[in-house]
Amino acid sequence: MKLLEEMIRKYGEIKNDEVLLVDSFLNHQIDPQLMMELGKDFVRHFKNKKITKILTIETSGIAPALMCGYLLNVPVVYLKKSKSKILNEELYETTVHSFTKDIDYLITCRKSFLSSDDSILFIDDFMANGEACLGAIDIIKQAHAQLAGIGIVIEKAFQQGNAKVSQAGYEVYSQARISSLEKNEIQFIDESAV
Ligand code: G4P
Ligand code: NA
Ligand code: NA
Repeated sequence: MKLLEEMIRKYGEIKNDEVLLVDSFLNHQIDPQLMMELGKDFVRHFKNKKITKILTIETSGIAPALMCGYLLNVPVVYLKKSKSKILNEELYETTVHSFTKDIDYLITCRKSFLSSDDSILFIDDFMANGEACLGAIDIIKQAHAQLAGIGIVIEKAFQQGNAKVSQAGYEVYSQARISSLEKNEIQFIDESAV
């Protein structure tokens, strides 16, 4: 997505060869107009899918997910993160390992917010190693809901996420695909060349 690539070029900060900071429009300060454009792009991409609910993970997935829910007129549910088990039979929960942060955490969802009648679009801000996405897929399976699509704002294509999720049998749509952050330079995968 051209607009997003321009925003990343203009405001993205390379922290190191593996981490891109986009605090000025996505991860700390949020650009609402951009979020709406991201929402429109996701809706356009998934227009042939039946979607009854948007699912994301707190915190930074919520902004783009909300715009999708607004445009499709469906609810937005966000998976909540917690450090320790909350033994509660009203919740679906699964463990996610973060390679970036080297920690395990739980993501949970009230059972009443996901059902076997739901066809779900999962949205997240970043895909690195795909663990958060695989955790969300696990929760969707526990609920016997359908996964209609996976939409990611920024994919770090030099990490394993897309490959792992594809191997599990799911297609990922990413609005910006970064192939490298090396040499203090942001490289995108040129979609027109693929
Ligand atoms: P994974 O799920 O793809 O395996 O990712 P990982 O655990 O490695 O990522 C942990 C957190 O770091 C996630 O946010 C993810 O969005 C974020 N992240 C990963 N790589 C980058 C990056 O290059 N830049 C930025 N800005 N974020 C990155 P989170 O901790 O769940 O936080 P949030 O949603 O509350 O922001
Ligand atoms: Na996130
Ligand atoms: Na994040």
